[in-house]
Amino acid sequence: MTTIDLRTRYLGLELKNPLVAGASPMTGHIAQLKALEDAGVAAVVLPSLFEEQIEHDEMELARLRDFGAEGSPEATNYFPELTSYRTGPDAYLAQLEQAKRELSIPVIGSLNGVSSGGWVRYAKLFEQAGADAVELNIYYVATDALASAEAVEQRYLQLVQQVRAAIGIPLAVKIGPYFSALAQMALRLQQAGAHGLVLFNRFMQPDIDLESLQVRPGVELSTSAELLLPLRWIAILKGRVALSLAATTGVHTAHDVVKLLLAGADVTMLASALLRHGTAYPRQLLQQLGTWLEQNDYSSVEQLKGSMSQLHCPDPAQFERANYMKALMSYSSPT
Ligand SMILES: Cc1cc2nc3c(=O)[nH]c(=O)nc-3n(C[C@H](O)[C@H](O)[C@H](O)COP(=O)(O)O)c2cc1C
Repeated sequence: MTTIDLRTRYLGLELKNPLVAGASPMTGHIAQLKALEDAGVAAVVLPSLFEEQIEHDEMELARLRDFGAEGSPEATNYFPELTSYRTGPDAYLAQLEQAKRELSIPVIGSLNGVSSGGWVRYAKLFEQAGADAVELNIYYVATDALASAEAVEQRYLQLVQQVRAAIGIPLAVKIGPYFSALAQMALRLQQAGAHGLVLFNRFMQPDIDLESLQVRPGVELSTSAELLLPLRWIAILKGRVALSLAATTGVHTAHDVVKLLLAGADVTMLASALLRHGTAYPRQLLQQLGTWLEQNDYSSVEQLKGSMSQLHCPDPAQFERANYMKALMSYSSPT
């Protein structure tokens, strides 16, 4: 068997293969992180630290501080080391440090938020804790009818600029697909300082429970069918922006990985697949990926990457409107 070179570059990091464990509860514990490393993943993204967690924590600290100041002088001694108080964000940083100590693959910290503010300084703290990169997950649902698309986009760009200014390590931005001009938005995110895009965040869709008439959060695992959306946009963006491209949503099989690499992804991220099949699953995927490459006469992942992007594929219109009409007309009813 010939040796296939699975290496890839993502955010300037040299990775041994294109499988990354994306942010999910599977990357939230050191034992699972080690198991993922043993199974061959090339990097891990920790679950997000949320803006709300940080702000809640800071409010709690301020409350304790005020309480101390208003009470007797001795009362302040009850809280001698408020700054070392072990809370959500502190625990996150400790976990990041531990992951860095115990793993040899790159560890990416994830920050999730939507507004510019003090919480952004956690990006710097991630860097100080040893993170190899920051993934900024902007999960924003634009419900305000008075906020224009431009205002919403500015919110993204400002946030990216702020985080970028705070850190020296690479920055990836995870976004959803709901932009009117996604290609231009990608370019503007690049100009704001992003080094990579993670496409796409999978927005949880709330459902209505007809029994209780309550709105239920809809956390369902994905299927491979959902990878077609990131596949199309990665194919379109590859070569048009100078950004690393990570695929997330719907990566379950080795064929899924191959397709996304052909479209132009630098890495593919696993979340639902790990939650469904466990931490050992990447080993199987890597074996199947190697076999596919060998059987199809590829000697490296680099050779495959982007060879079917819109700029390189034989029929670029397939990724555009022309394909819409053709696809509809080619549908034959099962009856
Ligand atoms: C239970 C669960 C928790 C998740 N937590 C995070 C998170 O903390 N931060 C984040 O950026 N994405 C989070 N995600 C999104 C995943 O990283 C991923 O982008 C999404 O699930 C699509 O990939 P998949 O099809 O492999 O599941 C979570 C997904 C699931 C299912």
